[in-house]
Amino acid sequence: MIGQRATNITWHEGHVERASRHALLGQQGATIWLTGLSASGKSTIAFTAEHALTAAGRLAYVLDGDNIRHGLNSNLGFSPEDRTENIRRIGEVAKLFADAGVLTFTSFISPYRADRDLVRQMHVKAGLPFVEVHVAAPVEVCEQRDPKGLYQKARQGKIPEFTGISAPYEAPTAAELTLDTAELSPEQAAAALIDCLRQRGLLPAGI
Ligand code: ADX
Repeated sequence: MIGQRATNITWHEGHVERASRHALLGQQGATIWLTGLSASGKSTIAFTAEHALTAAGRLAYVLDGDNIRHGLNSNLGFSPEDRTENIRRIGEVAKLFADAGVLTFTSFISPYRADRDLVRQMHVKAGLPFVEVHVAAPVEVCEQRDPKGLYQKARQGKIPEFTGISAPYEAPTAAELTLDTAELSPEQAAAALIDCLRQRGLLPAGI
């Protein structure tokens, strides 16, 4: 983890409480952290859930790995250190979104358990809900799907450190929810995810 580099900085507390923002929006924020292999279905499920929630009048937003790597994290690659920094930054951004009252879905491979646990801890410390979702599909299934042709390239040695092929993926041991996307359609998986949020009191009945 990157330490605090800046000195002579002071935390400035705002005048608006989180509860006031929640009252304004009629919902409380949360981070819903989707982790899994490339092509496991994370982004499809996250965007499907975002669409369904928005249609139901809830403010939801997806922070997507490939998209974020075009902007905020464009200076990061796929070394273990860069992946850790990728997840740390997104953990912080998701925490801010959740604090603002947004139902925030993150869609990152996030292959290291320690990195995900760190993000969980920062949410716990901030008193914000954190829901870890393992989007689980066997690597053989992901490789068969290969929508971007990346597994093929990785097999040919054209992509070093490719998760599931030449770089590790550490599956969650205590995720709040596991979605087996070898069995579930994206719509079924998104519905199960929304159901889980309802059960955890993050959505009212009827959504
Ligand atoms: S993470 O490991 O740091 O969490 P992230 O989710 O941001 O990864 O980005 C993964 C996406 O980058 C994959 O879906 C894939 O499209 C692309 N990608 C490019 N190179 C790699 C690689 N070496 N390993 C995994 N994904 C890669």
